[in-house]
Amino acid sequence: MISSSLNLHQITGGVVPEVAARAQIESIIPVIQEALKIAGFDPSHVNGQLAHSMRSQGSNVPAIDAIAVTAEPGLVTSLLVGTETAKWLGYLWNKPVIKVNHIRGHVYANWLERDPKKDPIQFPIVCLSVSGGHNELILLKNHQEWEIIGESQDDAAGEAFDKVARILGLGYPGGPIIEQQAKLFTQMFMNMESNKIVRFPRAWLNQNDSNKWDGTSFNFSFSGLKSEVIREVDRRKSMSDTDRSEIAYAFQDAVCDVLVTKLVGAVKKFQAKEIHIAGGVSANKFFRMKLDESSKSLGLKIRWPEKMVYCTDNAAMIGAAANFAIRSGTGAASEA
Ligand code: KG4
Ligand code: ZN
Repeated sequence: MISSSLNLHQITGGVVPEVAARAQIESIIPVIQEALKIAGFDPSHVNGQLAHSMRSQGSNVPAIDAIAVTAEPGLVTSLLVGTETAKWLGYLWNKPVIKVNHIRGHVYANWLERDPKKDPIQFPIVCLSVSGGHNELILLKNHQEWEIIGESQDDAAGEAFDKVARILGLGYPGGPIIEQQAKLFTQMFMNMESNKIVRFPRAWLNQNDSNKWDGTSFNFSFSGLKSEVIREVDRRKSMSDTDRSEIAYAFQDAVCDVLVTKLVGAVKKFQAKEIHIAGGVSANKFFRMKLDESSKSLGLKIRWPEKMVYCTDNAAMIGAAANFAIRSGTGAASEA
């Protein structure tokens, strides 16, 4: 059950924190009521007066173990709407509230769509969680021991997609639009020689001057790429639709090249048994195809959320993360 304020953000070409939080205040209770209905519970459990009198009778609360809520990182105003609502429900229903880190939540999206008996997940895992707000390469040794082995030094990849789409006048959010434009370009110019297509530099963050990744840094930087796109647009002066889709293609190629190279490099270095990708950018089919191609020879299990709705922000992944936090004993420490 998702209520999206995307149409509001499309007007402003990005998220205005106060606008987002106000929309969340209006929709959070109806969304919880709808979710309770879908799960077969009585939606009046969140009806203020009634829920209060139920509490005093100590009966009739939904049969759930805990309430999970995103606590960090993110826009403070939006986080507050969620955490305050969760605390209120925790009080009404006398249930623990489990605070979940948003990035941890994205990682657990890969636990949602499988039969755990037939398809168990095997540690160690290297997961690239990449969205509009974060870009982290994580080594998961088990449910408790996580190590950040690389992260963005400036813009996250999704943020770069959004900014480049804005530079090209393509709309918001940028990821799906850039992906679509890039696909159009490949379909139209299937036989074009690659040296006729603009190529953007990759920020490998190497210790030496090599054009290839030297394996030293697992960090990411995409703000220079965005500046290169601006320079290329300025160079062309008048931009046709073909120019726009060519630049979209070359930009997506550069981002995915860096993401895939470092992800596969990390998988080899840390001898992972599985490769995971998560977050909004993991919805990108070109990224998935490149990852598939580059890691085939390793013969490892690759996971990404099958349903697009589990790539971008959703509550199910937060619930999954809380479930494992409770089971592995780390949940109690993060109870609100
Ligand atoms: O995970 P998410 O919903 O929110 C954050 O935690 O930031 O990710 C949203 C981001 C946006 O920047 C959006 O442009 C990007 O994910 N995104 C994509 C695609 N779909 C969404 N980026 C590349 N290709 C896509 N298909
Ligand atoms: Zn997210």
